[in-house]
Amino acid sequence: ADVRETGVLNCANTLPAMPVRASNSHKGSFGDVLIAGGAAGMSGAVLLAARTALFSGAGRVYAGMLEAIAVDFLHPELMCRPLMKHTPHKEIIVAGPGLGQSETASHELARLIAANRPMVLDADALNLLAQQAQLQSALQQHSAEKILTPHPLEAARLLNWTVAEVQADRIAAASELAHRYQSVIILKGAGSVLCQPGNAQYRINTSGNPALATGGTGDVLAGLCGALLAQGLAAWDAACLACWLHGTAADDLCLNGTGPVGLTASELIPAIRRALNQH
Ligand code: APR
Ligand code: MG
Repeated sequence: ADVRETGVLNCANTLPAMPVRASNSHKGSFGDVLIAGGAAGMSGAVLLAARTALFSGAGRVYAGMLEAIAVDFLHPELMCRPLMKHTPHKEIIVAGPGLGQSETASHELARLIAANRPMVLDADALNLLAQQAQLQSALQQHSAEKILTPHPLEAARLLNWTVAEVQADRIAAASELAHRYQSVIILKGAGSVLCQPGNAQYRINTSGNPALATGGTGDVLAGLCGALLAQGLAAWDAACLACWLHGTAADDLCLNGTGPVGLTASELIPAIRRALNQH
């Protein structure tokens, strides 16, 4: 089938609904998320993703730090701990925010892939994957759902293309990645392109604006994807809804003067919660 035979993700009725919260639900009903990252000096990326997962409805959120020591005093709900002391059981794993590309980072990433839990791979998890055949074959053994969230440079590294080649045909790049990694792909940037393996349909997200072009907004997107997976959405639905909400939150903030200049990734998080509750 022609990969181009589809539409844009700009009408609310193509978006998945959130599962209804039953009156007898408890925190176990909404899933656990582990954010895995936090090399020295990069705890902020983990905290942004973890706070987002918390604000977007995950039942329990663990912030696994490779080296950085952090406690989130603003959000004591977050369970911050050394990554290597955390054995994943039933968590959704979001790997990569501030993970760095050290040997320890690569070792921890291999351990997390081997847990065979639904995963979101972002940032340095993608950079490590692009470099290491061992991680690529580990990922081939991984049978749970995956969402990869590369920006154009990360996509170029994964494909061994140039950034110009990726940007010249973003749909081809995303669909090739979906096939190669058997994963849902979010190729980020203005008009994020979403593809899934074994399906010619793609989506282009129409929400969002240049206010998002600031450090940390990608970490927020990764945490949001994790929280939606934890609440039971399938990877494709989680990716579509996450992109839409992330962009809509930025658009909403621009209406009251919080952007486009000077919007912070932190401010995006409560705006995503509002968009999610209004969805
Ligand atoms: N219009 C709409 N959306 C945009 C725009 C735009 N002009 N610019 C950026 N965005 C969105 C992207 O679609 C994506 O969701 O903002 C987010 C940016 O994500 P990243 O590029 O991953 O940025 P960042 O959060 O700073 O990444 C953190 O991880 O990827 C590494 O090297 C990166 O060190 C950095 C870290
Ligand atoms: Mg990023």
